[in-house]
Amino acid sequence: MSHSKIKTWIIGNWKKNPASLEEVTALVTNTKNILTKSKTQNFLQSDCANLMFVPSTLHIIPVKSLIADTEILVGCQDISSKSATVGAYTGDCSAQQMKESGVSWSLVGHSERREYHRENNEVLTAKLQHAYKQGLGVVFCIGETLTEYDSKKTIEVLHSQLAVIKDFVAVELAKIEGDADKVLSDFAKKIIIAYEPVWAIGTGKVPTVAEVEAVNKDIRQYLTSIHASLMPVSILYGGSVSPDNAEQFASSDVINGALVGGASLVADKFLSIAETFFTIKSEQS
Ligand code: PGA
Repeated sequence: MSHSKIKTWIIGNWKKNPASLEEVTALVTNTKNILTKSKTQNFLQSDCANLMFVPSTLHIIPVKSLIADTEILVGCQDISSKSATVGAYTGDCSAQQMKESGVSWSLVGHSERREYHRENNEVLTAKLQHAYKQGLGVVFCIGETLTEYDSKKTIEVLHSQLAVIKDFVAVELAKIEGDADKVLSDFAKKIIIAYEPVWAIGTGKVPTVAEVEAVNKDIRQYLTSIHASLMPVSILYGGSVSPDNAEQFASSDVINGALVGGASLVADKFLSIAETFFTIKSEQS
């Protein structure tokens, strides 16, 4: 499969923003108004271009209803590691509850969760398993810190984070009696990798395109070495993506989209990034 057949994703991670439902409504309404007049609207009709908002848990249901008449998807920022369904876990929302609320994907392994909530591979493996069990896709975020980058440990760090996927697949393969290729091809449709260097998140600093390309190629090699059926997985870049640098990242055919934080809170910036990526990717295909 050529890289150009891989789906393009533009995902807006709103984090703990905005402060009020009124601001959420304004952001979604502005985005919809711009969208109806933009080329992005046409791209979204195809299966190859996908746009997703990832609001805070509190705002998922209102956002879902505000975008009901659009092609935009809604994801969540987190799911419980404790169980896939219900239970006595104060403060948690499960993969089942998210799915039931109309969410189709969850972020897992974002560096802010790894750092502030001490999420390690064991926790992330549990989240991946729960998401898979409930039919929820996972945007698996990986990335190195500045110290690791400076000491040239990026690939080593990413491989230790990607071990979650490798171990998950090994466990699933052990359960499969029938067609492993089919099961893993289906799994490949439910997983996206977002490479986000921690030092690029919210800082305005970005790696060079050549650096991201080398990393993304390595990630694809890692995935296909787990199993050839993982070839179609989209591998995104994230970290200070803006309308000013979107073109340079989109121009690389090994960067299959972007996970956008700050710029996703401004409707015209988010859609400008989306249009840049979708236009360039349609030309590459
Ligand atoms: P940023 O955040 O675009 O504000 O750097 C990206 C992210 O954390 O996903």
